[in-house]
Amino acid sequence: MATQIRPAPETVNPLDVSRAELWRNDVWQEPMRQLRAESPIYYCEDSKFGPYWSVTTYKPIQHIEALPKIFSSSWEYGGITVAGDGIDHLQEGDVPMPMFIAMDPPQHTAQRRTVAPAFGPSEIERMRADTQARTAALIDTLPVGKPFDWVEKVSIELTTDMLAILFDFPWEDRHNLTRWSDALGDIESFSTVEERHARLAVAFEMGGAFKQLWDRKAQNPGKHDLISIMLQSDAMKHMSENEFMGNLILLIVGGNDTTRNSMSAYAYGLHCFPEERAKLEANHDPDLAVNAMHEIIRWQTPLAHMRRTATEDTELFGHRIRKRDKIALWYASANRDEDIFPDGDRIIVDRENARRHLAFGYGIHRCVGARVAELQLTTLISEMQKRRLRVNVLGEPERVNACFVHGYRHMQVELEQY
Ligand code: HEM
Repeated sequence: MATQIRPAPETVNPLDVSRAELWRNDVWQEPMRQLRAESPIYYCEDSKFGPYWSVTTYKPIQHIEALPKIFSSSWEYGGITVAGDGIDHLQEGDVPMPMFIAMDPPQHTAQRRTVAPAFGPSEIERMRADTQARTAALIDTLPVGKPFDWVEKVSIELTTDMLAILFDFPWEDRHNLTRWSDALGDIESFSTVEERHARLAVAFEMGGAFKQLWDRKAQNPGKHDLISIMLQSDAMKHMSENEFMGNLILLIVGGNDTTRNSMSAYAYGLHCFPEERAKLEANHDPDLAVNAMHEIIRWQTPLAHMRRTATEDTELFGHRIRKRDKIALWYASANRDEDIFPDGDRIIVDRENARRHLAFGYGIHRCVGARVAELQLTTLISEMQKRRLRVNVLGEPERVNACFVHGYRHMQVELEQY
């Protein structure tokens, strides 16, 4: 998907919520509140990414996601981020690697089917013991009473292990998964030809490694790993090599930053709301840990938005949308919608409807990996509870400078036994 970043507009529109600095400085909440109150479907005429609509409340996002024929995810129109441009903007050196997150039915339906079985309830049950053992082992290596970077030592490590297990990837090389994902997923830094070439080089390096894994699995298929499941699926017969690569990138990138940032949000969010942390420290009921997991994912919303593109002129709650208009669905804002989540800026670990959040999207594209991420985060919460460990954050974290991945780059913490 090509990204043609334009010069930033000369005058700043305070309601242009695609500006990276709002996310880097954690000040996106106020403009979103204003949009929800005054203009929940808002046309931003100019931005670094061109004109786009912002949708900031819960119900219209569900409405749009339920109409994929009119509101397309297709990479040909520019895909799933406000930064993306359509096929007619492909530049020299771009190699489209279509992923099913950026496809519409019927291709989306067929390709999603190739991987969905790997994320079903029985597979999740099978992963539970492993996830628990890995999480416990990692926590037991952490120093108590000494500063360290939580993102690096916990969020990245546990997510990398999770991906390696899903792919049955060679354990000793597993950190490559994170390296590739970080390089391929950073959508706002491929505007120059050099950057796009560098990205392509990473994609080919990853492709080479996965080709080897693929060849091994073709000879000796496993039962549960993603590659074997994809190889044995009918839809694979109709998938081009670029599509296969695109879907691998999707599975690695899709699971990487998101799960990582939900685990960082556990540390940061509970530090910001110590009375909520106290509830988890006093009550080790597994149902509370599960509810807290949903609430932390709602509060963080690790992907701030997904984008759709209108395939025809249409009307949206009284607004005239033209064919090819970009529409940003701001999950981060819908998860603060006052009508659904009162006092949404606060984490409330026993919030009754926490699991209704939209952080995994809605409809046919709803996150296929949601259960894996939920298992990973719940396990982290309960293993920390078992050891009576509290995370104290030592300073403001460094945040990601982008309006898509919503998360943390570094966060110094110290563990304390309570
Ligand atoms: C789709 C969020 C973890 C793989 C999505 C979507 C969102 C999302 C917002 C798009 C939904 C839509 O368009 O309606 C998250 C969050 C996660 C997470 C917040 C962690 C807290 C994972 C994991 C994996 C994964 C662990 C896999 C290893 C995917 C895939 C899709 C997807 C393959 C495309 C689904 C489709 O188009 O049908 N995710 N995700 N995600 N996610 Fe996740």
